[in-house]
Amino acid sequence: MTVIIKNEHDISKMRIVCRLASEVLDYITPFIKPGITTGELDTLCHEYMINEQNTVPAPLNYQPFGYPPYPKSTCISVNDVICHGIPGDKKLKNNDTLNIDITVIKDGYFGDTSRMFIVNSGSILGKRLVQITYECMWLGIEQVRPGAHLGDIGYAIQSHAEAHGYSIVREYCGHGIGNMFHEEPQILHYGRSGTGMQMQPGMIFTIEPMINAGSCEIRTMPDQWTIKTRDHSLSAQWEHTVLVTKTGYEVLTVSANTPAKPIITITD
Ligand code: MF3
Ligand code: CO
Ligand code: CO
Repeated sequence: MTVIIKNEHDISKMRIVCRLASEVLDYITPFIKPGITTGELDTLCHEYMINEQNTVPAPLNYQPFGYPPYPKSTCISVNDVICHGIPGDKKLKNNDTLNIDITVIKDGYFGDTSRMFIVNSGSILGKRLVQITYECMWLGIEQVRPGAHLGDIGYAIQSHAEAHGYSIVREYCGHGIGNMFHEEPQILHYGRSGTGMQMQPGMIFTIEPMINAGSCEIRTMPDQWTIKTRDHSLSAQWEHTVLVTKTGYEVLTVSANTPAKPIITITD
């Protein structure tokens, strides 16, 4: 298996499906309040995809080798859940940090994006972790251009996270995406500049760093999907789907309420 270079037709379809994925996040944002359950948020997203967008939620019944089928339409990962949190009866409360990860399918193409949310004002630690993780994703995105190495992305992310005393989850990574949910190449969120594959125009992949306030060790829950920090420290993640263009990058997962690119102050 090799990296699939997308043509103009693929790229126009990917622009559409990636915008739709981002629009699910725009839609769900005002519902994120104390007392709502993650299961209710999932149902709202599911109905919006099916009834308003005519998209298919890619996570529902997704079954990579060795896993049970994923039972819901979104992943909602709260506080010390790193990723793949299964929506359920958990009620959101003040200061919770949560990631909502949306992948939709339209015309056979996949779009994948996630954002962090904080319930009401948030703790100092939670706000800082969410902000630094957002900066990490963007520092990774800014490495994307033809001829740059995949290791440049990982290096940019890892340096910024570690400069703030945070750790990078190693077990999960970004991925090529197109007519499949997970394609080559793997996009590691740690690494060394100048190493790994060189980027080429027409590659499309996600950048989705998972960053822990404490140790990088993980623990898989008995449901075989939910991944938590072993030390129960907070974890954050942001995700965009990105196209390598002739001159740099184009972020595809954009919609009316996509958060702005940050202004990053390097204090190291
Ligand atoms: N959206 C996740 C990613 O960014 C994958 C979720 S797989 C699921 O790659 F089955 F848990 F939904
Ligand atoms: Co992804
Ligand atoms: Co995702």
